Amino acid sequence: MIDKETIEKFRDLPTPFYYYNLGTLNETLETLKKESLGRGYKVHYAVKANPNPRILKIISSFGFGADCVSWNEIDAAIKAGFKPDEIVFAGVGKSDYEILNAIEAGIFCFNCESIPEIEVINKIAADQKKIAVISLRINPLIDAHTHKYITTGIEESKFGIHTWELEEVLKRVSEMKNIRLTGMHFHVGSQITRMSVFQSLCAHINELQEWFASHNVNLEVVNVGGGLGIDYETPEKAPAFAEYFSLIDEFIELRPGQVLHLEPGRSVVGQCGSLISKVLYVKNGSNTIFAIIDAGMTDLIRPALYQAHHKIENLTSQGSIHKYDVVGPICESSDTFAKFYELPDTKRGDIIAIRSAGAYGEAMASRYNLRDLPRVVFSDEI
Ligand code: LLP
Repeated sequence: MIDKETIEKFRDLPTPFYYYNLGTLNETLETLKKESLGRGYKVHYAVKANPNPRILKIISSFGFGADCVSWNEIDAAIKAGFKPDEIVFAGVGKSDYEILNAIEAGIFCFNCESIPEIEVINKIAADQKKIAVISLRINPLIDAHTHKYITTGIEESKFGIHTWELEEVLKRVSEMKNIRLTGMHFHVGSQITRMSVFQSLCAHINELQEWFASHNVNLEVVNVGGGLGIDYETPEKAPAFAEYFSLIDEFIELRPGQVLHLEPGRSVVGQCGSLISKVLYVKNGSNTIFAIIDAGMTDLIRPALYQAHHKIENLTSQGSIHKYDVVGPICESSDTFAKFYELPDTKRGDIIAIRSAGAYGEAMASRYNLRDLPRVVFSDEI
């Protein structure tokens, strides 16, 4: 719930902007800390979900590590207080420059996705007279049952190394003098709401543990990636950390000395953010009424890109309910937040909140149509 007092304050602020409720963020982080520390799990926040500097600072202050996918993310994470030796670096296309910087910064580990990539890391590490620590991102061929653009563990995916390639990978890595293989890494997709997906992942990991042991490879790191979904119908609802962590606890079989690592992104920041916008025009279509708001797909691309549903609230109307197509001002038909969506009687100037937008919202904003990037307002600033 966004309370009345806050709504009144929104009236005077220029829109659109992301509103971050720090109370929700802190509560989420408290729970995450409790659930992970208690079990000895190591959390690396997936910076891509929301790299806002203030949000990064708050997350790092809880003592978590970071999961980054570019040098700029690593740099931002370090500037926000994350320790370099708690940063993992993932991605199928790390450039030479990024690899070099990451080695110099002293990151915890590269999560590697192919033999050619490991070869380049080995060469750059050798030039620097350093040993690069790596984990193998393995494609476990598990369907995450989520939108196809955020499913990564299927066969024809650019992500990860197939299990049938592992024999060859081990052989090649054993010949590389500047690589130290310490772990296995997985990430099967995002916005996963079926817990059985994670159970299948654990079963797969247990099998791989056998395989590595039979090849006399001892791994210290088992990284299950991110992916825990949030409830987009219930803004601010806490993610199911307890259920998720106890499921992993129950089904994963760690070997002595192994540490379980996780990379949650959406579940950490999703529920603390809302995109706040004002209604510009209400316009009749032939079968619908358009509520044209001043936020568009440039501010929040998820509905246009993944047909994602975010709860929409008219914060300033109590009128009778009508159905609206809630659309933005961008010159694209896909600039639609929801179709035939029930809202109280909506008019120009009403304040609209698009909820659960803290993850992959601000982070994916663009300047298409030469629009300004969305502003940001924190709950303790108004
Ligand atoms: N680890 C790796 C290797 C990843 O690729 C990702 C996300 C995460 C962790 C964090 O996953 P999370 O816990 O947030 O599900 N833009 C899309 C989501 C893309 C996710 C990309 N990878 C969206 O708006 O739904």
